[in-house]
Amino acid sequence: MDKNFYITTPIYYPSGKPHMGHAYSSIIADIFARFKRLEGYNVLFLTGTDEHGLKIQREAEKNKKDPKKFCDELSEKFKDLTKILNLSNDDFIRTTEKRHYKSVQEIWNKLVESGDIYLDKYTGWYSVSDEAYYDENEIELVNGKKISKLSGSLVDWVEEESYFFKLSSWSDKLLKYYKDNNDFILPSSRKNEVVNFVEKGLKDLSVSRTSFSWGIPVPKNNKHVIYVWLDALTNYISALNFPDIEDNNYKRFWPADIHIIGKDILRFHAIYWPAFLLAAKLPLPKKVFGHGWILSDDKKMSKSLGNILDPIEIVNNYGIDQLRYYLVKEVSLGNDGSISMENLKNCINNDLANNYGNLCQRVFSFIKKNCSNKIPNAKKFNAVDNKLLNQLKNNVPNLIKLMNNQNLNEFIKIVVSYSFDANKYFNDSEPWSVKKTDPERMNVILFTICEQIKNISILLNSIIPIATEKVLYTMNIEKEKISIDQINNLESFNHNKELKELDILFNKIENDN
Ligand code: ME8
Ligand code: MG
Repeated sequence: MDKNFYITTPIYYPSGKPHMGHAYSSIIADIFARFKRLEGYNVLFLTGTDEHGLKIQREAEKNKKDPKKFCDELSEKFKDLTKILNLSNDDFIRTTEKRHYKSVQEIWNKLVESGDIYLDKYTGWYSVSDEAYYDENEIELVNGKKISKLSGSLVDWVEEESYFFKLSSWSDKLLKYYKDNNDFILPSSRKNEVVNFVEKGLKDLSVSRTSFSWGIPVPKNNKHVIYVWLDALTNYISALNFPDIEDNNYKRFWPADIHIIGKDILRFHAIYWPAFLLAAKLPLPKKVFGHGWILSDDKKMSKSLGNILDPIEIVNNYGIDQLRYYLVKEVSLGNDGSISMENLKNCINNDLANNYGNLCQRVFSFIKKNCSNKIPNAKKFNAVDNKLLNQLKNNVPNLIKLMNNQNLNEFIKIVVSYSFDANKYFNDSEPWSVKKTDPERMNVILFTICEQIKNISILLNSIIPIATEKVLYTMNIEKEKISIDQINNLESFNHNKELKELDILFNKIENDN
């Protein structure tokens, strides 16, 4: 059977430049995508931009641009970011593309056919910034302004003709799905939020607007444009060529294995999206993972606070592997986490430069000097060698499981400890002191440490792809051959081939003062 895996990021509003929060979701999704490829899966990794709705229309007007042109320019910045972050996405969808229009209108038609859509009038609160409807009890008055208690964004009073989706009739089916699929909403702490909300009873959802025009028209009633969230969520299947359900991509990749999102848009992904799919009689995604918030010096990033972190600037100053590693190591995936340049520097120096980087450099230069630059083929392991190798070997199934349960922080903690152990092993074994007296022993030590460097590099590959690929390439393991299967394969090295040159992996960051 084919092993397929479909993973997505949110599609971002191109209402401004991408920031660190967008980069975070994308990097996390990229790590899981890459790891699944190492496990031998056919992976489809999707990201993109969400280009319709009043929020975008207003932003375009502010910039005196036609909305499509405005989106063309900003969407390009998000595309550029995929390159800067070294994302391995297979596709990039824009909701202004033709393939997406077709798909959204087809979903709409299906919801009409199933009797889930009716025409009425919406009177209530709406936040343009969140593109979300809020109930009276979700609103509060702060400094004379009505804002959403959930997001803090301003809300406007809206009264207009609107089509509604019969969300209220799907509560029981949704609750059953949550119950039967314990892993649907992760981390589990967020699951309760959703269950409580649904248990209180769902109201029907307004799914079209008439007071502006920047959107996909409702079929057979062009006065209305389709609500931007019904439009946006459909991207996950329009990228698979839905409504062509015989299409190879749709057949192989739907339902999605996991949608990676931030906690702010959990309601849309864990309630609205599955309800739309249930009504359209389509399979539901298997998992929705809502990660926490990236804080900048303990505060939420916002334009007014002027503390928005620019991922491009950080990558330019410190490097992309460095940023990826730091985000995984120092931010607990399910929770909010503050990031600071001070911690980033420490993390680069301690873990990357002094530990993994330094180990590789030392071992390879020792081999160059003492073994004609070839990894010795010597496997008469003693108890100390075996202890080092077996500890990792025995834990591989557990490490794979941690990744598949999105337990990235635990995963990296363990792998980093292996890297410290490997350094210690190399120091304690002192290959330099047995060089003359027992060259065979020296060879075993060097083989063992290379084997461990290889294993650690494969495990870290999805997180720091550039550095680990350099290291493995130095050992004559080409990119295409990197896979989980090569961990503990004692025959991965070509002992007749010289090591390639390896330049500095991670520069240490000096403190400014
Ligand atoms: O909501 N920390 O787009 P958006 C961590 N278009 N992640 C953050 C973050 C932060 N401070 N800020 C943003 C939308 N994010 C819709 C999505 S999906 C069908 C449509 C990330 O541009 C996080 O993933 O507002 C959040 O959910 C997403 O960006 C919101 O991006
Ligand atoms: Mg947002």
